[in-house]
Amino acid sequence: MPMLVLGVESSCDESAAAVVDGDGRVFSDVVRSQVALHAPYGGVVPELASRDHLRNLGPVIRTALELAGVRIDDVDAVAVTNRPGLVGALLVGVQVAKGLAWAAGKPLVGVDHLVGHILSVFLHRDGDVAAEPVFPFVCLLASGGHTALYRVDAPHADAISELGATRDDAVGEAFDKAAKLLGLGYPGGPMIDRLGESGDASRIKFSAPMASCRTLEMSFSGIKTQVAQLVAREGASRDPAWTSDVCAAFQSTVASVLAHKVVAAALREGLIDIVLGGGAVANRVLRARTMALAGQHGLRVFVPPVAHCGDNAAMIAYAGALSVARGQRDGWDLVATGRTVLQRTTRKGRGQR
Ligand code: KG4
Ligand code: ZN
Repeated sequence: MPMLVLGVESSCDESAAAVVDGDGRVFSDVVRSQVALHAPYGGVVPELASRDHLRNLGPVIRTALELAGVRIDDVDAVAVTNRPGLVGALLVGVQVAKGLAWAAGKPLVGVDHLVGHILSVFLHRDGDVAAEPVFPFVCLLASGGHTALYRVDAPHADAISELGATRDDAVGEAFDKAAKLLGLGYPGGPMIDRLGESGDASRIKFSAPMASCRTLEMSFSGIKTQVAQLVAREGASRDPAWTSDVCAAFQSTVASVLAHKVVAAALREGLIDIVLGGGAVANRVLRARTMALAGQHGLRVFVPPVAHCGDNAAMIAYAGALSVARGQRDGWDLVATGRTVLQRTTRKGRGQR
């Protein structure tokens, strides 16, 4: 029997808990979004996020255990996101998980949120096992807080190295800011995705900074500035067709850069499997563009279902189960920090941790 782990996630604006086993089988997966709380401010307000996690995590964890049909005594370990993220929000999840693990006498492990996103492609429901990528593979992680390319040799942080990353905005952040400029509300990614579907991407030209595939570095703040300049020039248009065209052109440009970068990374590393992870890879143009380009090079693309692209605790429970199996135990020593453990590969070897 693979080990059963309770996962807890509170790094940003989702309070989440899940019960998952060491094979990635999901028994319950509860996510309580704070989007409505932060929407009036056009972005996540850290202090409000922490307070809401404090209110939500208890009921969310109880529901996750109930839906899985288990009690805390039945799980083999507790895993919690302890990095990176909003530190106040992380502290709430870490303290709740410490208390639970201590009271139930279970091992506690901290999980890097980015490792969770990278491994979310392995999650599955009973009887629903899809084809899986083969290690080593290349992963494009694109979320609201991070955008980077990784080489993943094995399913743990020590075997994952960064190949390139954004120098400025994360992709999800660029989507959110562009949507705000267009008056579309928060979070902007899903809105741009939907409106762009009916738009004509060729009617507006955006230039993509650092688009050359000679570098795996990326930049997305410039395209957001181009949206700001366009809105300033044209005025806040009331014409929905124009807004749809801007959305279509914006996501087409971003998707094109990301697709070319991740394919270039796979070719450079000599790997055939590409994995996508993080909230922004829910974007349909990005998925389609990556699959089409990868197909031309004989590469395979694996994408989690949309529910597992965004923040969730199932990915944390699964990554935690693998860490427990490798002997990791954090217990009372666990701290919360805004920094990821994933490091850039250097010519001399892996960076300092
Ligand atoms: O992974 P995630 O849930 O949270 C972080 O770890 O940041 O990612 C959230 C981000 C938001 O910026 C949101 O606008 C973006 O993912 N997003 C999308 C789509 N759905 C969510 N961006 C583009 N297209 C989408 N369909
Ligand atoms: Zn995330």
